Amino acid sequence: MTVKSRLLELLEQHKGETLSGEALAKELSCTRTAIWKGVKKLREEGYHIEAGPNRGYVLSPDSNRLSLEAIRLHLHEPEVYMRLYRKVSSTNQEAKKAALQGEAGHGAFVLAVEQTEGRGRRGRSFFSPPGGGLYLSIVLEPKDTIQSSLLITTAAAVAVYQAVREVCGISLDIKWVNDLYKEGKKVCGILTEAVTDFESGGIEVAIVGIGLNLYLEESTLPRELVGVAGSLYHTPQEAKTAEVNSLAAGIVNHLLEEVRLKRLSPDYVQQNMVPGRDILIVDRERVRPAKALEICPDGRLLVEEEDGTLQRLSYGEVSIRTKETT
Ligand code: BTN
Repeated sequence: MTVKSRLLELLEQHKGETLSGEALAKELSCTRTAIWKGVKKLREEGYHIEAGPNRGYVLSPDSNRLSLEAIRLHLHEPEVYMRLYRKVSSTNQEAKKAALQGEAGHGAFVLAVEQTEGRGRRGRSFFSPPGGGLYLSIVLEPKDTIQSSLLITTAAAVAVYQAVREVCGISLDIKWVNDLYKEGKKVCGILTEAVTDFESGGIEVAIVGIGLNLYLEESTLPRELVGVAGSLYHTPQEAKTAEVNSLAAGIVNHLLEEVRLKRLSPDYVQQNMVPGRDILIVDRERVRPAKALEICPDGRLLVEEEDGTLQRLSYGEVSIRTKETT
């Protein structure tokens, strides 16, 4: 770890408190000049570090810049492979590469401030402008945990729901299978990509990619997202108050705990907005209306088709039928 990185960790740990140059130098076993240089570099990166009243340094209490140093402070298991890119094609792609190269194991993760080729489900792209959201991919080796891809997916939705509620105080709705909604608009999408073992058919590695919109300016949205995509916050100022480092760590912590528990979380059922609704089942062949009844213990969705037959959907895409489409 560099002096700059250790310095940032200390400043994040004591956000809002003045730390003297002397104490910092002693703690990091370096000179005060090295501390001063580290502070200078951090300021150049955009950190708001003031010289405190007794000539020490203080990281502004409202500083919420995404960093691995700050995320690490909130992780339950901080000794994992982690990478943060300011700009990358896709965090899922990077995480998969690192996992296949044997660098990134269970609980490892990759984040980005911007994705140039963010991937969505069904071959779609995921709009990921700089700072517009949290773009996070977590590596799971489900060996001793959940093996079903459906339950990994539901666990990810629950992890986002729980972290957003705890850190941001916002209660999101979950839409089966793995979208999260706020005020009727999608604010989070999840793409789970699995590498399966050829012989056993079991999941060797799963990459859980989470795209959580913090603030997207309506006028910048691609046409197909207008009226569909939403954000956690209504203004960029409000979004800046989001404790993104706690949020990212919270998602990772909750996901690891959920997959360890090997069950469908009661939160998944309780927060689900689909049961009781008229829906459209969209699969490769056709679009058909049905009534969503309940979430089954294995994560499947029990539905009643128009002819009265009951089906358990294990994947596919569910659109909720609105007045305009009936
Ligand atoms: C969807 O709703 O279609 C799923 C979107 C998943 C987007 C996330 S952003 C982080 C990770 N990297 C990607 O390229 N995609 C996922």
